[in-house]
Amino acid sequence: MRSISVSSPGKVILAGEHAVVHGQLGIWVAVDKRLSITVQSVDKGLKIASSHDSTELAHYAIMKIGEIFGENIDCLEINIDSTIPVGSGMGSSAALAVALTGALTKYYKKPWNIDFINETALTIERKQHGTPSGGDNKVVTLGGFLKFRRQQDGTAEFEKITNYRKIENLIVIDSGKPKETTKEMVEKVTELYKSDQARFSSIFSRIGDISQSFCDYIIKKNEVNVGELIGENHRLLCELEVVSPKAQDIIKKIEQVGGHAKISGAGGFKEGSGVLLAFHKEPEKLQYLAELEKWKIIPVTLGAEGVRED
Ligand code: PMV
Repeated sequence: MRSISVSSPGKVILAGEHAVVHGQLGIWVAVDKRLSITVQSVDKGLKIASSHDSTELAHYAIMKIGEIFGENIDCLEINIDSTIPVGSGMGSSAALAVALTGALTKYYKKPWNIDFINETALTIERKQHGTPSGGDNKVVTLGGFLKFRRQQDGTAEFEKITNYRKIENLIVIDSGKPKETTKEMVEKVTELYKSDQARFSSIFSRIGDISQSFCDYIIKKNEVNVGELIGENHRLLCELEVVSPKAQDIIKKIEQVGGHAKISGAGGFKEGSGVLLAFHKEPEKLQYLAELEKWKIIPVTLGAEGVRED
């Protein structure tokens, strides 16, 4: 009985969500929460078991991969095991698409081509996200820190940042699962943009400048005020109406103790906004506040490895 295991990381977005869909620079970072796929041959049928709510996307992904590979995907048992929170902006759907493509690539003995895995995963992501920038699946495939910009023709300009300066004192806090999908949030921002192009272009471009400042910090080691950049990005994301009152309230409390925070991902408006990236020079103050307020902290290490066979 053949068995293959492939895993891929989750991600956070340091800066640039939404603005990247409109041509600005964003910084994506792979984190050490992983989704793992095990593929095993069985006598007949196709069985999918998942530790989290992803079997519908997995069925769609398998159908697409079968089409692209020219294979009838059958006589397989596929197990999905993940520590990446679902639908919270940590890249769980991209991780699924990438790891599944990687596992089936190995299973059907296709060449391990990272660009092909990324492109296949992007095709799958389009079902979930409509017009994804491609940043999620790119960072989940490549790992590490990624400078990413989508060009007007839809192609991506990206650079994996090696030799980067570590950003200390960042904490991921869960503000609750959004009611809306990424697709809905991206469409909402695009509608806002169409209603006042001058105003929203300027917001997108200010967010792009923040991404650039982070690049200068982590690549060129320029001094910047990390907290202030996160705070300004948060205020701009509020203008895009992607931060819910609940998440705004959490962020206000973080600011009251001298910290800063922003959403990481598409956000959400009606209830939660997914995970928040929070910063404090004395992170134990955030930990203490989170305990007091009963917020869930998701411990992560930034810069995890991309898709790999385990
Ligand atoms: O999938 P999420 O929630 O991490 O959102 C991705 C970031 C967006 O910029 C909102 C969309 C995109 O495709 O880049």
